[in-house]
Amino acid sequence: MEKFVIKGGRTLTGEVEISGAKNAAVAIIPAVILSDEPCILENVPQISDVSISLRILIEMGADVKFLDKNTVRIDATGITEPIVPYEMAKHMRASYYFLGTLLGKFKRARVAMPGGCYLGDRPIDQHLKAFTALGTECTLDHGMIDIHADSLIGSQIYFDMVTVGATINTMLAAVKATGMTIIENAAKEPHIVDLANFLNSMGADIMGAGTDVIKIRGVKKLKGATYAIIPDQIEAGTFMIAAAATRGNVLVKNVIPKHLESITAKLEKIGVTVEEFDDAVRISVDGPLVKTSIKTMPHPGFPTDMQPQISTLLCLAEGTSIVTEGIFDNRFRYVDELRRMGANISVDGKVAVIEGVGSLMGAPVTAPDLRAGAALVIAGLAAKGVTEIEDIYHIERGYECFEEKLRKLGADIEKRSFPGTSVRKVAL
Ligand code: EPZ
Repeated sequence: MEKFVIKGGRTLTGEVEISGAKNAAVAIIPAVILSDEPCILENVPQISDVSISLRILIEMGADVKFLDKNTVRIDATGITEPIVPYEMAKHMRASYYFLGTLLGKFKRARVAMPGGCYLGDRPIDQHLKAFTALGTECTLDHGMIDIHADSLIGSQIYFDMVTVGATINTMLAAVKATGMTIIENAAKEPHIVDLANFLNSMGADIMGAGTDVIKIRGVKKLKGATYAIIPDQIEAGTFMIAAAATRGNVLVKNVIPKHLESITAKLEKIGVTVEEFDDAVRISVDGPLVKTSIKTMPHPGFPTDMQPQISTLLCLAEGTSIVTEGIFDNRFRYVDELRRMGANISVDGKVAVIEGVGSLMGAPVTAPDLRAGAALVIAGLAAKGVTEIEDIYHIERGYECFEEKLRKLGADIEKRSFPGTSVRKVAL
């Protein structure tokens, strides 16, 4: 079993390069199946969710070759059976994107019910509603979702709530459908736009990505493409907050500042200085950190994937802050771990009330999920003393070379192996 061991209290300074976006990569990699030719993807992050996605493609018969550590050539034309192996699919939520892409290519698919971070109830009813609207029969068969359609016909689909996954899955299923598909109440996250841009570079006809109405006119063929994945807004935000929590001075490079607007706005309210450049932001803190209120919302609101990280920062701010989780039912499981470090937080359902404390203390903690794990690293960096974090496999799903990047900024963090296995049942 591996842990992060962090000696806190050191200020982060220097420069960090942000990697490609996890939530774009896990949608774009399966989308290659739709192409009738090989594709080359650049700026692919080296994270375990990407490795699982590529392994699924290889298992299904695709040819996958890394041209360098972040560039991969994928030829999925050898895939004939639209079935994703159960064992591989259940570990990752994004495995359900293979449903949309295989349906779009083969008009049928068989994929395990998705896994991923436990954040409360995460149904897929809107995905199935969209597939059904396109003319698909959907059944659940021993943990596998089985879908097939005689033909895919464009349709008007209105989502009951803003859902990133269902918006992506519908685009994947509809790009080769007959006629026009209109998605209303669509998600607008940067990775939605990135997927649409990738599909259009292959010859798809998608309009309106990034707004709440996306129109997809079906096309017959999709050709190969070379495409660079956008920088990861959540990795960028995580490093911005790590710099602020240690009162450091860090240049966060290879970012799209527009994708960070809601994060920047909140950090400035807390008393953090954010200097914007074309493809970088500089983070510094001169005065005290002060309380604020935050509610996580679909893009362009404050991202739910930044909620554990900003809540950790607010533990160090003067006054009482309120954080409302507007997307998931149960995204405060990390609070118990922060309390071990001296945080003063009370949670009632989707609302956390955070009383700022002067400092946190190092302690042994366990990462409950990906972003909560990153938040515990931030807490350890800012805390007095040593913090040991277990179950860091969660963190490695979404952050490339996380501890190396932090060490380059001056953090005292190392990954150590320990005998035995994690006591926590992996919540997939
Ligand atoms: C994606 O999850 C991301 N995962 C999540 O990032 C992110 O937190 C989330 O979008 C919101 O931005 C990937 O992209 C792989 P949703 P997803 O569908 O698609 C409900 C991370 O840390 N809902 O937008 O699962 C759902 O329960 C991860 O990188 C339904 O009720 O999120 C939730 O309350 C964590 N029925 C809300 O909608 C459905 O059919 C938003 O979910 C679909 C969703």
